[in-house]
Amino acid sequence: MKSSTPVIIAVDGYSSCGKSTFAKRIANKLNYVYIDTGAMYRAVALYALQHGLADTRQIQNETLVKALDDITIRFRFNPTTGTQETWLNGTNVEEAIRGLEVSAIVSKISQISEVRRKMVGLQRSIGEKDNVVMDGRDIGTVVFPQARLKIFMTADVAIRAQRRYKELKTKGIEASFDDICNNIRMRDHEDETRSESPLQKASDAHVLDNSHMSVEQQMEWFENTWNNIENSNDN
Ligand code: DC
Repeated sequence: MKSSTPVIIAVDGYSSCGKSTFAKRIANKLNYVYIDTGAMYRAVALYALQHGLADTRQIQNETLVKALDDITIRFRFNPTTGTQETWLNGTNVEEAIRGLEVSAIVSKISQISEVRRKMVGLQRSIGEKDNVVMDGRDIGTVVFPQARLKIFMTADVAIRAQRRYKELKTKGIEASFDDICNNIRMRDHEDETRSESPLQKASDAHVLDNSHMSVEQQMEWFENTWNNIENSNDN
């Protein structure tokens, strides 16, 4: 029998694997809410920058932890773009959190245990109300170990770097392919080896290696996987 509690689909995996594109497509298809948990860590990083609590050299961990109660993060649906946008203390920060300054410090911000505790609490409260597709690093392992479906995404480093290179080029940003490769390797290492909630595949996660798959093929994979789960729950 199906429960009436909201359904959670967890999408975890390495950076630059196309998690958000895939998770958004799933959410659209099922009419679930899409939550980008990386955006929440990015919003805390932006707050720290705005309040002089962080720069690329150091983060004032203790002061930031004391300020956590003053940080309110919400997602609001923008009907014009058809996506959820991130709001920090009443301001739309969807664009600001994608900037280089935030990207440079967010990994360190996400290693602070008090920050993680607050974000996980927020993520769980969202998942208590709505059916959600949530993407991140620890959704299937820590935030929602009971998720109905857990997906763990991966792809070859060179292929991820190629995709990122093309994306930057489209935006008119010059970058060296080798630098991008090295940056991806470094981020993988940081995500996998941090002491707080490192990136790990949950034992019951379904692995999606999309190195040689189009988005359409990934959606076909999702539909098969999802139908199998739904059918096994019906039996
Ligand atoms: O997915 P992203 O690059 O926007 O994530 C930003 C940072 O937050 C990245 O350093 C990984 C971290 N993160 C995390 O630790 N846990 C999550 N659930 C999501 C992101």
